[in-house]
Amino acid sequence: MSRNPELDVRARDILIRNDRGGYTVPTHGLYPFQWNWDSAFVALGFAEFDRERAWAEIETLVSGQWEDGMIPHIIFHQKDEGYFPGADVWNTGRTPPTSGITQPPVLATVLRELWEAEGADPACPRMQRLYRACLASHRWFHTYRDPLGNGLAMVTHNWETGRDNSSEWDDALARVDTSGVGPYQRRDTGHVDAAMRPKQEEYDRYVAILHFGRECGWNHRTIADHGPFRMVDVGISMELLRANRDLLALAEAQGDHAVADELRARIALSERGMDWLWNEEAGAYCSRDATTGQSSGLVTNASFLAFYAGVGTAHQRARLIAALERIAGNTQYLLPSLEAGSRAYDHRRYWRGPVWLVVSYMVAQGLAEQGHTDWATRIRDDSARLIETSGFYESFSPETGEGSGGPDFSWTAAMWLAWCGQ
Ligand code: GLC
Repeated sequence: MSRNPELDVRARDILIRNDRGGYTVPTHGLYPFQWNWDSAFVALGFAEFDRERAWAEIETLVSGQWEDGMIPHIIFHQKDEGYFPGADVWNTGRTPPTSGITQPPVLATVLRELWEAEGADPACPRMQRLYRACLASHRWFHTYRDPLGNGLAMVTHNWETGRDNSSEWDDALARVDTSGVGPYQRRDTGHVDAAMRPKQEEYDRYVAILHFGRECGWNHRTIADHGPFRMVDVGISMELLRANRDLLALAEAQGDHAVADELRARIALSERGMDWLWNEEAGAYCSRDATTGQSSGLVTNASFLAFYAGVGTAHQRARLIAALERIAGNTQYLLPSLEAGSRAYDHRRYWRGPVWLVVSYMVAQGLAEQGHTDWATRIRDDSARLIETSGFYESFSPETGEGSGGPDFSWTAAMWLAWCGQ
């Protein structure tokens, strides 16, 4: 039963208004193209009232997939001068134009959910096509983004993590040489308050990493081996492990034995490898630099994806729950992107404190699956209260509940419809 039918209508309207014909923009103005993991979550929202449109959203997303298997983080379906860096800055030479980096691989998990809700027919052609696309994308991660051979996932740009300017990346970014960046015009601060967005010197580093990729012709091997930013991201490592489990369920349903064996081996490797991210002092899984080996030591919302990925000993899980208790005691609304009091915490600034409902959703799903239903319910109720208090913002202050970033946000609307509003 819906918590608030009026908000259901508003949420549906946002998705319909942000629909550009087969794909949805995250919000008008600030993000005028198709974003990878946004589309996956948006499909869950559409699925609540228009299942055809839900499938179309992710089919359009994979229309931008590269031959090497990468699903890009942005597809520039049409021109829009209101965004930097646009298609000509990335210069990937693709049709449709895309960026040269990826984003969190949550698609297989969403695909499984859509398919199961429709009866789980192993012969469903739409599922089969998307299954192949997901498999190619996972293999791309396994081939290009596992430099330590331990089943974890490295990112070569902080934008790939989806937690764009989390303080987890600060030390690695500080080493990026920005001397060749030259002048450019940011567009984001024309849409939202600069106090919520990354600072200028941070943005210069993001652009410098992009330039490295462009200069080597988006050769993913060169970027992985020699790029200026190489972080093993706790978020993608957990999301990919989870997505491999979901893809395995699809492989088994179709009797695709060779792929099932391949995925089982990957899953076992990642399960063993995850300890490389465990930071006993922090009592959490933390992102870690692939080049220097340095752990961020920061407890972020992504640390709690361990439940969603199904990893952790009893001791590790107990420490994570203790961290959750501590965070809940310090804040009004779960789940902040960074724990209050941590280095660089700021309740209004992108990924340094604000709550993002899509991460909260995955964390709550994992907690519920692992038997922590009280915490799952708490996160879900807090998420609903944020929308009830402030509307469908991109993110929210964990202290005041005030919205931050863009308004009328697609994935926030989708999370209301598919999860916290129901
Ligand atoms: C920001 C977020 C990223 C998201 C994009 C579109 O860049 O950090 O995760 O995909 O906005 O919503």
